[in-house]
Amino acid sequence: MNAIAGLYTAYRAQLQLKSANVISSIAARTRAIGAICESSQYLASRMHAAITDPNAAQIVELGAGFGSVTQLLPENAVSLEREEERYSYLREMYPNRTVLDVDAIQFVSNLEEPTIVLSCIPSVNNPEFARLRTAVTQSRQRGLIVELVTYTYFPINNPFSGIFSVERRAGLEVRNVPPAFVWKYKC
Ligand SMILES: C[S@@+](CC[C@H](N)C(=O)[O-])C[C@H]1O[C@@H](n2cnc3c(N)ncnc32)[C@H](O)[C@@H]1O
Repeated sequence: MNAIAGLYTAYRAQLQLKSANVISSIAARTRAIGAICESSQYLASRMHAAITDPNAAQIVELGAGFGSVTQLLPENAVSLEREEERYSYLREMYPNRTVLDVDAIQFVSNLEEPTIVLSCIPSVNNPEFARLRTAVTQSRQRGLIVELVTYTYFPINNPFSGIFSVERRAGLEVRNVPPAFVWKYKC
């Protein structure tokens, strides 16, 4: 019973259920960010724990949103978020960090140093995802992505399949709406 109560609390917090109009607020968010909602702190921690070296010199976060992953990353990490409200929020919350309001796909295409990438950009129902996959493939071939961590809502959806020599699911986080699978890719 305690476990169910814990899940309920986690889901409510993540969905920010303040009003009775749950469906319209979720629909608006899905339109704005391409996902039902931001990632929970539990999913963020699971993604962070999947990084081989969380203090690496070059870490880039794609689609930082409201910063659930950002807050766990080292000071030198670079976080990308193009949506205005989320970008302003991140700048305010992390004034000493590098937060850029740029297109993450373009940024990945122009990497210059070996980088660890954490991606929160949706892979399903996202018309831009094929472009992101191409950018990741090309940067990986140039040796510029050494590791990539992302998540999906379906275990069979392997968004970056066939690009890295090691690809595996690094766990399922049920304290997230919806429950999410973390994927880890390495050379
Ligand atoms: C699932 S949400 C953010 C999850 C984040 N971990 C959080 O907790 O808020 C995905 C984010 O990616 C951003 N995004 C999507 N495509 C992008 C792109 N090409 N460049 C930059 N940001 C992008 C969206 O604006 C959205 O904030």
